[in-house]
Amino acid sequence: MVRHLLDVDDLTPAELETVLDRAADIKAAQAAGHGDEPFDNQTLGMIFEKPSTRTRVSFETGMTQLGGHAIFLGPDDIHLGSGEPVKDTARALSRYVDVVMARLFDHDDAEELAEYATVPFVNGLTDDAHPCQTLADLLTIREHFGGFEEVRVAWVGDGNNVAQSFVLGAAMVGLDLTVATPEGYEIDDEVLARADAVGEAPATTHDPEAAVEDADVVYTDVFVSMGQEDRREEKLAEFEGFQVTTDLIGDRKLMHCLPAHRGEEVTDESIESENAIVWDQAENRLHAQKGLLVWMSEQE
Ligand code: CP
Ligand code: NVA
Repeated sequence: MVRHLLDVDDLTPAELETVLDRAADIKAAQAAGHGDEPFDNQTLGMIFEKPSTRTRVSFETGMTQLGGHAIFLGPDDIHLGSGEPVKDTARALSRYVDVVMARLFDHDDAEELAEYATVPFVNGLTDDAHPCQTLADLLTIREHFGGFEEVRVAWVGDGNNVAQSFVLGAAMVGLDLTVATPEGYEIDDEVLARADAVGEAPATTHDPEAAVEDADVVYTDVFVSMGQEDRREEKLAEFEGFQVTTDLIGDRKLMHCLPAHRGEEVTDESIESENAIVWDQAENRLHAQKGLLVWMSEQE
């Protein structure tokens, strides 16, 4: 059966663990210099409506390392968004490529791509979700803490895409998560209900200090997401008091999906501190996505 990843809870908790295990095995094999190339002659189509450093490079590099090839389809390269319906793009691409990955604004467009694609579809970020980031985050936490049990994470910042997928992933693996957002930027109730369905939904607060009190990890994301640039001043004002400083971090680990906007959600000192494990997160995008692609190919 063709499997898609619109969000983390498209996997069962057992499947999520298998994907993380595949990723860890592939990472170890690569480090030992004997990675497999199961994607010989296969192509990944990568649609980007928004910019990307990590997602684009990790998917393209990952596909090369797996013996395949990736095609970058930017906003000016294909007809998506300028006349051709999403469903037609999905059907045409499915006749050429073996996997489709897309970074889009509207999550409904990702759902439509997945509905009409006859090959696996992977969400590379929408306004509502970023499941590939969560896979890398969970791999990183597992590496640093040896597992998920008793690990306490505090999310401090916006409750949008990265946070929402992390909420689902955390519930699925049993992380102890507290989410602190400003009022009006909470995790969607629908996502909290889905987290409840797969595990335990996080505790929520509007107080960053309270959220980090018992935490082992502080995790944040930009205050001004891609597509919200015209709301910069308004959002920076609404997020006052949520900046992740070295004082707030204390001796906890710092996670950030990156890119970091130093001076906004996080200070330069925080990102540069020894507590930051952000580069491990970034590297693990590569390994987690290779694990996902291999696992998806095994389901067909
Ligand atoms: N974290 C992440 O998705 O980074 P990019 O926007 O660089 O892809
Ligand atoms: N919330 C951020 C995540 C970037 C990876 C954004 O949507 O821009």
